[in-house]
Amino acid sequence: MKYVYLNGEFLPPDQAKVSVFDRGFVFGDGVYEVIPVFGGRMFRLPHHLMRLANSMDAIRLRHPHTAEEWKAIFTRLIAEGGGGDQSIYLQVTRGVAPRDHAFPANVVPTVFAYAQPLKYPPAEQLATGIAAITTEDIRWQRCDIKAIALLANALLRQQAIDQGAVEAILVRDGFMTEGAASNIFIVSQGRLITPPKGPFILPGVTRDLIVEIARAHNVPCDERSVRLDEMNTADEVWMTSSTKEILPITRIDGKPVANGKPGPMHARMFALYREYKLAFSQGKVD
Ligand code: PDD
Repeated sequence: MKYVYLNGEFLPPDQAKVSVFDRGFVFGDGVYEVIPVFGGRMFRLPHHLMRLANSMDAIRLRHPHTAEEWKAIFTRLIAEGGGGDQSIYLQVTRGVAPRDHAFPANVVPTVFAYAQPLKYPPAEQLATGIAAITTEDIRWQRCDIKAIALLANALLRQQAIDQGAVEAILVRDGFMTEGAASNIFIVSQGRLITPPKGPFILPGVTRDLIVEIARAHNVPCDERSVRLDEMNTADEVWMTSSTKEILPITRIDGKPVANGKPGPMHARMFALYREYKLAFSQGKVD
């Protein structure tokens, strides 16, 4: 990576410096986004910027840039990265101030962004599916905010990895919420089912796109709560995110999901997703 963006400047990464008193560093006081880039084009940019705006409003953070300004920053980062398939990471923190929990007056938000080549999941994971564990959702009650404070998510993801799995499926009061860094879908009797939006899940842009594509192709799709036992007896389970796209989960807590192989609904929806993505890369859809 040649350049990162920091507070109005494009700098080599080793020259980009942030104060140790930045509230992002001291308190985890900030929000972020991850935006995939396909064929040099930012995928679902308005959706990501809308979620960013919602996250900033939720933590009472002044918006540092307009949509046009964000677009200009990302366009330059993508061009520096040579186009193609990349992912943009951006974060906005409340800024630099002496340590005090209360919000500082007149503080200037810190804005950091970079683009890197998109790392797709290994082909084998797509072909055979991945293993997941289930574990209690120990996070806070505002999981709809894309907060940089990801300690709980990191602990939960590591718990999955320590058990030889790839993702942790989180469970709150007997219902699944989402993955440590993904949304979860199940397939049951020919229907797609994913938990409804609300304070306990991040409203995933990939999740919304899958719901949109399903409805456009008359695939029955419900946004409703899913009990853990319903997930455990589902025909298929998937995790979705901007970087992992749609990955089948074929083992949960050491037991196979249905026959332990990626299912036909995954094949169908992933083909439709790929079709949409290709049309987007070629500039045929926005
Ligand atoms: N994470 N839920 C959580 C907790 C997430 O962290 C993510 C994505 C998602 C999926 O959202 P989307 O489809 O908009 O990527 C759901 C990103 C990729 C990350 O933290 O790297």
